[in-house]
Amino acid sequence: MLSILARTMAKDLWYKVKPCGRLVRPVAPTRIPGRYLSHQEGLPKLPVPALQQTCERYLATLEPIVDEEELNHTKELLAEFQKAGGVGERLQKGLERRARKTENWLSDWWLTTAYLDYRMPVVVHSSPGVVLPRLEFSDRQGQMRFAAKLIAGVLDFKTMIDNETLPVEYLGGKQLCMNQYYQILSSWRVPGLKRDSVNHAHRSRPPTHITVVHNFQFFVLDVYNSDGTPLTVDQLYMQLEKVWSSSLQTNKEPIGILTSNQRNSWGKAYNNLIKDKTNKDSVRAIQKSIFTVCLDAPMPCVSDDLYRSRAAVQMLHGGGSRWNSGNRWFDKTLQFIIGEDGSCGLMYEHAPAEGPPIVSLIDHVVEYTKKSEMVRTPMVPLPMPQKLRFNITPEIKKDIEKAKQNMNIMVHDLDVKVIVFSHFGKNVPKTHKMSPDAFIQMGLQLAYYRMYQRCCATYESASLRMFKLGRTDTIRSCSIDSANFVKAMDDPAKQNIEKVTLLEKAVKAHRAYTDMAIHGQAIDRHLLGLKLQAIEDLTSMPEIFMDTSYAVANHYNLSTSQVPAKTDCVMCFGPVAPDGYGVCYNPMAEHINFAVSAFNSCNETNAAHMAERLEQALLDMRMLLESTPKAKL
Ligand code: COA
Repeated sequence: MLSILARTMAKDLWYKVKPCGRLVRPVAPTRIPGRYLSHQEGLPKLPVPALQQTCERYLATLEPIVDEEELNHTKELLAEFQKAGGVGERLQKGLERRARKTENWLSDWWLTTAYLDYRMPVVVHSSPGVVLPRLEFSDRQGQMRFAAKLIAGVLDFKTMIDNETLPVEYLGGKQLCMNQYYQILSSWRVPGLKRDSVNHAHRSRPPTHITVVHNFQFFVLDVYNSDGTPLTVDQLYMQLEKVWSSSLQTNKEPIGILTSNQRNSWGKAYNNLIKDKTNKDSVRAIQKSIFTVCLDAPMPCVSDDLYRSRAAVQMLHGGGSRWNSGNRWFDKTLQFIIGEDGSCGLMYEHAPAEGPPIVSLIDHVVEYTKKSEMVRTPMVPLPMPQKLRFNITPEIKKDIEKAKQNMNIMVHDLDVKVIVFSHFGKNVPKTHKMSPDAFIQMGLQLAYYRMYQRCCATYESASLRMFKLGRTDTIRSCSIDSANFVKAMDDPAKQNIEKVTLLEKAVKAHRAYTDMAIHGQAIDRHLLGLKLQAIEDLTSMPEIFMDTSYAVANHYNLSTSQVPAKTDCVMCFGPVAPDGYGVCYNPMAEHINFAVSAFNSCNETNAAHMAERLEQALLDMRMLLESTPKAKL
């Protein structure tokens, strides 16, 4: 029944009556399947690490963050857990069985645990934003022109996905799983009362439209001609103009803001919203679109210095109900955001993919927008983009008001600082034969230690894409070696030579942990797997997971990620702990873009202060290396 409804609706969207009375049907380009599958089949399966190895490594990561008494207690619990014939061994066998039976023992569990069961709003708490360099326009024509080019660029990238000709990516000389690229277009999240789901348009019925939102009003814009060719930039521009001039009223209900609410509340509001047939069809049209383009109203003016930080909040939450937060559908996987004031970026719903595939799409699109348009525009008149209607009942109105209030609280609570660290980039650590990523992570450890005189559990994302359907594991950047280095750095009793040795050791340890993580041998997903196996087996929860140390280890005061890009952009995301920081960075050759976030409701954290400390830490580390000639070591 559902699928018949969905098909009927899709048909309604496909057929448009031309002024001359002839039907023009946008046609999706033909797919050329095959290459993707053969590549995927050659990828190895994610291993299950050895139990003893994980227990030993877990203890080592606890050492700098818990006190001796807690550590000794955890040691005892772990000894009991891993003894021959014990609970650990039984759970490990269960995991190994699961690994034999599935393509990836972790991926479904991870999707559910990290995303679909997570009940906080996706805004700030899960969905990252990407800030692109400010564009050189400040009017509506510039906005439309750039939006048209951007859409054409994304469709060009989509052709590579459809033809399965995306160049295979590599990490550490190994081919990576490309599955995430096939999940980011034509997909959406659906809220549930207890658990969400994530969906993709059926391959046999690919959508031919995108959604465009302006002044909180959504439009269906067909982006293919009847011969399956994508609309040209000029055609897209003309269509966007039509959208713009049909949505000039600014008093519309911001229906999209519903998607920003806490997931259970949104799940309830969603069921209520789609009871109405018109609403349901409109929601389906947004969900099934290839992606969404948000044409934003100008945000408050700020100085050039503050521009990137302001753009980051625009990408993360839209600025609140007064500004652009209602100009979104936060459950759509990909939303490109273009402001009339030259601001540009995107936000994405995290469940289907990590940052790197998103940023590689961005790199392609940015290059595409720089090219001059060579394609001749067909002279066929195009139909009016279809405005999506919503019937707002008093109950829906109430839900919108609640969502607005909650959104405004989130907006006030989020503190974001974007900086361009212009003193050096990957070049300096490389000259000193150090991994740039490890060097930056040690800078973060030093900055945090200087601010709080203690070390904290630190998360850095490591890609598991060497394995089929791989997502991420955690690099625990706070280690015994990082703690030794940060404690020595400002100790006047220590010689520079010793500090350099400790820095080198910490960098090497970080790089070694990274290698271990990307090869599927880190501890965090393994421990999570053992815990979920216990839940699945209905056995009582092993004590190691109810231990204070486990809580401390998973309270990430620093949640960090490197998302490198060719474009001079930066990804940003919110903290994962109420008293923590979110730090994302794009290390370029000669400079590094950082986005630091914190919550205003926590008196102890401050994004700008952390960013300053980080700059100082990196500069001091370079100074240390440069003022301690190798010959003296
Ligand atoms: N001496 C000189 N150069 C070195 C070096 C050393 N000792 N160690 C590394 N380098 C070089 C590398 O060869 C590389 O060179 P390139 O710029 O020519 O490519 C460069 O320095 C970067 O290496 P490094 O800084 O060590 O990091 P990486 O590129 O290996 O990335 C991770 C490390 C953890 C970021 C990566 O493995 C990863 O997992 N990325 C995915 C993260 C993710 O999914 N994030 C998104 C979450 S939403």
